[in-house]
Amino acid sequence: MNTSLTLLDKHLQLVRYPQQLQHPSWQAWDAADEYLIEYIEQNIPDFEKLSISIYNDDFGALACWFAASHPHWVSDSYVAKQSCLINLEQNNIPTESIEFYDSVTPIVDKVDLVLLKVPKTTALLEQQLIDLQTRVSASTTVIAAAKANLIHKSTLALFEKYLGVTTTSLAKKKSRLIFCQPTADKSALSPYPTIWFTEKPKFEISNLANVFARQQLDIGARFMLEHFSKLPELDNKTVVDLGCGNGILGLHILNQKRQTKVVFVDESYMAIASAKQNIQTNLPQQLSQSEFMVNNCLDDFAKKSSAAEIDLVICNPPFHQQNTITDHIAWQMFKDAKAVLKKGGQLIVVGNRHLDYPSKLKRLFGKATTVATNQKFSILSATKL
Ligand SMILES: C[S@@+](CC[C@H](N)C(=O)[O-])C[C@H]1O[C@@H](n2cnc3c(N)ncnc32)[C@H](O)[C@@H]1O
Repeated sequence: MNTSLTLLDKHLQLVRYPQQLQHPSWQAWDAADEYLIEYIEQNIPDFEKLSISIYNDDFGALACWFAASHPHWVSDSYVAKQSCLINLEQNNIPTESIEFYDSVTPIVDKVDLVLLKVPKTTALLEQQLIDLQTRVSASTTVIAAAKANLIHKSTLALFEKYLGVTTTSLAKKKSRLIFCQPTADKSALSPYPTIWFTEKPKFEISNLANVFARQQLDIGARFMLEHFSKLPELDNKTVVDLGCGNGILGLHILNQKRQTKVVFVDESYMAIASAKQNIQTNLPQQLSQSEFMVNNCLDDFAKKSSAAEIDLVICNPPFHQQNTITDHIAWQMFKDAKAVLKKGGQLIVVGNRHLDYPSKLKRLFGKATTVATNQKFSILSATKL
């Protein structure tokens, strides 16, 4: 992995977290970060004295660069925050330089300069622009950055709709900047969370802006739910819903087995807030036997959870990290699941058939069994011996 960012006579060492699982060709910043940094350094006089808010800094490159301004740093990603913390440390920048916010905690402070990396999910961008409305004034400058192919007319229309006049830069190394001048007279109610319903039983599923399957039940999750009768005996057992999103799988487990304890784990703060909301709305009596954890897979699970022995880990794994398609997270999830399961405990995974999950599970557990399969998906089970 290229870990040295040298720009305008300044040098930073930057890694992606977790370091050991990254592809050698990946790096912890991109051309859009460089474009944004160069623009600020060369065009905004005395920017160090401004109150700066950084949104969606993938791995902490912007936090490290602008740390002297004590910026607010806002992200929906626990993994991004861990990257940022490591990168601050290895560049000898005190963590206290940065004021960290997750995506579900409102910020009231006014802001002079907003630096925003355009996120993969348009709904998250929309929510963040709405959140910014109460923080900006006519003298605030908003500058966003992204790969040029992520900036559409509809992206610019969101900046115009929620903040004010918006223009773009020329492309440089396939990246672009968006300049937005807030008019300070805008206020809009958020269209999020998005609510949809399951059929039988009729559960109300609430989804904050960045939650996977925000608009409807994921087809992989649907396939898993259709085969729930094949799950092992779960009375009085403890289950982890790993990468829980809105908590749809754990919710159905709690509904079928009302004495079961479920630990919901996701790296998205919005996912965990939504999962909690969905248990509260649909199975309020089961809230006390549910635990909600923002985490990278099952890092330090035993220290972080009150659950002693895990009988089942259920998982519909992700195949992206931010904009990169990858199976390294699934791989870590499987390894971590094996580590937390008790002997005889099971990992049950749903995945696209073209993914190489069976051989991964065989390598880890010695054996993987197909529970169900259709043209698109397989449900696989592996037991810890
Ligand atoms: C394919 S979605 C499944 C969501 C939900 N279980 C469902 O079936 O609809 C994968 C989930 O994994 C989460 N995720 C991604 N990386 C993660 C990580 N490193 N640790 C924990 N969760 C992660 C994503 O935020 C997403 O909610």
